[in-house]
Amino acid sequence: MKRVNVFIISFLNLAILFIASCHESDIPDDNPAELSEEYYTGGKLGTTFVNNISSAYEQPTPAVEESGMALAFKIGEAFFEDGFNSNTSGMRHGLGPVSVRSSCITCHPGYGHGKRVERYRASDFGNGYLLVVVDKNTHAYVPELTGMPQTQAVYPFLPPIDEKGIKIEWREHVDEFGNKFPDGEAYSLIYPEVTIDPAYINTDPKPANYTVKLEATIGIYGTGLLDAVPDDSIIAEYHRQKAMGRTLNDAKYDPANFITENDGTKHPGRYTYGLTRGTLQNGPGANAIWNITNVTRENRRSNYITTAYAAAMSKNADVQAALGRDEATIYAELMSTDLEPELATEDYVNFMIWHRGLAVPAARDLDDPVVQKGKKAFYSIGCTSCHKPSWTTGPDNYTGDTLVARRLPRYPYQKIWPYTDMLQHKLDMVNDIRTGWCRTTPLWGRGLSQICTGASDHLHDMRARNYTEAIMWHGGDAAWAREKFRNLSKEDRDALVKFLESI
Ligand code: HEC
Ligand code: HEC
Repeated sequence: MKRVNVFIISFLNLAILFIASCHESDIPDDNPAELSEEYYTGGKLGTTFVNNISSAYEQPTPAVEESGMALAFKIGEAFFEDGFNSNTSGMRHGLGPVSVRSSCITCHPGYGHGKRVERYRASDFGNGYLLVVVDKNTHAYVPELTGMPQTQAVYPFLPPIDEKGIKIEWREHVDEFGNKFPDGEAYSLIYPEVTIDPAYINTDPKPANYTVKLEATIGIYGTGLLDAVPDDSIIAEYHRQKAMGRTLNDAKYDPANFITENDGTKHPGRYTYGLTRGTLQNGPGANAIWNITNVTRENRRSNYITTAYAAAMSKNADVQAALGRDEATIYAELMSTDLEPELATEDYVNFMIWHRGLAVPAARDLDDPVVQKGKKAFYSIGCTSCHKPSWTTGPDNYTGDTLVARRLPRYPYQKIWPYTDMLQHKLDMVNDIRTGWCRTTPLWGRGLSQICTGASDHLHDMRARNYTEAIMWHGGDAAWAREKFRNLSKEDRDALVKFLESI
């Protein structure tokens, strides 16, 4: 009897040992209990440890799972991933009359930062560019086109811009250092120049005196965590940097200029390069599902078009003939504010659960000595003065839009690591972003870009093809930090990049 017992116990021990050793050797990152807080990029409620495969940006947060929203998350995901169609009923119907793209994912491949492309075609997967058509002198968006101009249309309509008239040219840039580090290592810099031939613009009148820029996607994961950072913390960060004498976009922090939400509350901007959106409930995604596709919903019952476009189409003889209607009727239909909702409210809610439920991939390799060395450099040369490593979320009680109120995943009191101050700075690049002010891009998860999206381009128009180019484009108010980077040894520069790849 005794012998059998011993045998059973030692067999059990062996089995436990075997399981433990499998665990340690095969899934090294799956043991979060031992990791320091920095690994939890999105906090305990917002981080996924599925962080080494191509769907690392697509995972739900622990908060989604803990609050029983996994199914809603899955249903909502399809509205991001799958294409809308121009049918008048059925699944994902309602695309058009004009659209920027037929799905979100065309622009946000693998949920990431988009990729650099050589030509503008809406149907080219991964072309995450928006055309920014602005007045040459004032940099205001031209009123004849929508802020996100469409290049696709459903028959018999014509697109506001015919893609054949768009030209992207990539130009070489030689900086004041001849594109060489002091130790002789060379790098190359390129930037886009874009033109649109007015003959290919279908509006009446056509815009005059305009110039065109490209704005690339940013990335979707983690935006729900940023939503949970209190407005007051962002305003305090603005005042902290202001007190240090930094140049900031002061107008954005005048409460009179805060962004008014659907529920009447006002918020400072926190999303998009232009800081044009203050909450996720009224954020770039909630808006995009309408203005990218022109799919109407309960609280968006008009087309995202301009009067100049409606005028051009209603006067067009081919459009009149195809529809069998006169100019006045076509104009009234296009400009109607009473269209039938196409996206069911329940689907919109699921879409927003998915949106606010996307996790941030946990950091990787932070204990590696080279990564540690790179981290030291990142902190000591001043990168953290704009790429603020961490924030703490608030009670996260904001309800917002009555459609989604109290139905979304929440992230109260989480320490998160996005590496952004959520403020705008001027980096003074050649052919810079509209207005020159650009929000500091969060750096979390970007090291996974190549495996998740097949591309690892950076900056607001994807001009940088790797981290080093991105850093070397930092001029203006970041020139001092770039100078320190430039003067690091090659070993330290490489270590810093390895740190960026790990966060
Ligand atoms: C035409 C390509 C395109 C499509 C399609 C598109 N986006 Fe974007 N997205 C962008 C661009 C460009 C930006 C950055 C815009 C800016 O800063 O002004 C962006 C920014 C965002 C952001 C902000 C991220 C941040 O950190 O501020 C979110 C969230 C987002 N998009 C979600 C979506 C969702 C959801 C959809 C589908 C409903 C979608 N996008 C469809 C191009 C696109
Ligand atoms: C004065 C503020 C400031 C400082 C200092 C600064 N950055 Fe940035 N950083 C920004 C802004 C703003 C952007 C977005 C610029 C754009 O897209 O045009 C950015 C973008 C980036 C990007 C590209 C992100 C992406 O994927 O598009 C990287 C990488 C980066 N910074 C790294 C660094 C490093 C490393 C340092 C230190 C040497 C540094 N930054 C210092 C403000 C700053």
